[in-house]
Amino acid sequence: MSGDNLRPRENEVRDDDGPVIEIEPESNGEEGELPLEEETSPEYSSISESESDDEDSTSIRSTRSFHKDTIEDVFENGRRYCNDTYFMPNDEAEQTRLNIAHQIYLIVLEGELTRVPIPRGRTRILDIGTGPGDWAVEMGERYPDSEIVATDISVFDIGPSSLGLPNVSFQLDDAEAEWTYHEPFDLIHLRSLSGAFRDWGSVYRQAFNHLRPGGYIEVIDADTAADVINFPNIRNSYFSILVAAMQSAAEETGYPRNQDHLRPALLTSVGFTAVNSTDITIPVGVWPEDPRQKTLGKMALISILEGLEAWSLRQLTETGNWTAEEVRALCDKVKGELVKATGMTARVRILTGRRPYAHDFRRGRSDDEMLEEVLARLQMREQKG
Ligand SMILES: C[S@@+](CC[C@H](N)C(=O)[O-])C[C@H]1O[C@@H](n2cnc3c(N)ncnc32)[C@H](O)[C@@H]1O
Repeated sequence: MSGDNLRPRENEVRDDDGPVIEIEPESNGEEGELPLEEETSPEYSSISESESDDEDSTSIRSTRSFHKDTIEDVFENGRRYCNDTYFMPNDEAEQTRLNIAHQIYLIVLEGELTRVPIPRGRTRILDIGTGPGDWAVEMGERYPDSEIVATDISVFDIGPSSLGLPNVSFQLDDAEAEWTYHEPFDLIHLRSLSGAFRDWGSVYRQAFNHLRPGGYIEVIDADTAADVINFPNIRNSYFSILVAAMQSAAEETGYPRNQDHLRPALLTSVGFTAVNSTDITIPVGVWPEDPRQKTLGKMALISILEGLEAWSLRQLTETGNWTAEEVRALCDKVKGELVKATGMTARVRILTGRRPYAHDFRRGRSDDEMLEEVLARLQMREQKG
């Protein structure tokens, strides 16, 4: 196959059941229970920001901050988890995988960190489920006038979050709980959070309420359990057995892992407008001839091989009557299969939406707002190349 055919393929879908627009392809083990080191611990403020100066409140201003070593991680089958519920580990192996995944997303977005326009000047950006914080920190570097709030229920040991950029703050916060931010955001970003929430509609509703009118939400996901991988003869593979097991285990826990949260209709149902869904197909493996695509394919393969155990171990051992050894044996079989698969691809979905201005509801938009919308769309196109 020629390199041209291997470029990421994009399909864009407009909101409001509008026409489907095809866009031309663009160029497109065992973790030791090591003590957590105080000196690398970033300070995390607890829960969310709050307006109140009440002593008991927990806010970025009246901070009741604490170090990560006050959080009790859970060690299970040789992996470390942030609590008893969330299915992904937060150990060094997972952090490394997330660092690689961040680099993959950068290539997929052709060096950009987001598909939505970032206004000039002081903007407020919220990164939900930030993980090690690569995205938040890079946003802070690229947009030094912006204020980035990065939240998670977990704390990762090392990595960019410990760099201490003045405009990036990390907070422990459960996005399923009530949001208490005191100022609205211009962008709320959620990446790789499939399986993190029971009720995505409720998370989207809170995001809507915490965006300023004209502000954007951006959701990016490519969960392996959500039928995003494809390769010849996938139906008769160990991989499909693993995917089916992960899907039914996720259903059982009540934290689904599928594409439902990436449906444009879910954003429009809570009030978002200008909803845009873009699928980008990337190669997985060393099969592409084009050098850039080969690099992307190698990185994607490494990320998937590293992710197999992380995506499946906890959920299958807890709900699927699997032993850890059985899960690992299946993952080994899948690894053998995936390294040999030629023509394997993965589909990444980017879903964006905008909180409308009040005028949008009352009497249609003003000329200025319509102009702003057009400029924002042009900027999005420019960012895509
Ligand atoms: C797969 S990681 C993705 C991290 C990051 N967004 C990225 O793209 O690198 C998912 C993250 O979501 C966090 N998470 C899971 N449930 C959450 C919740 N209810 N509220 C906030 N964060 C959550 C996890 O702790 C984990 O760090």
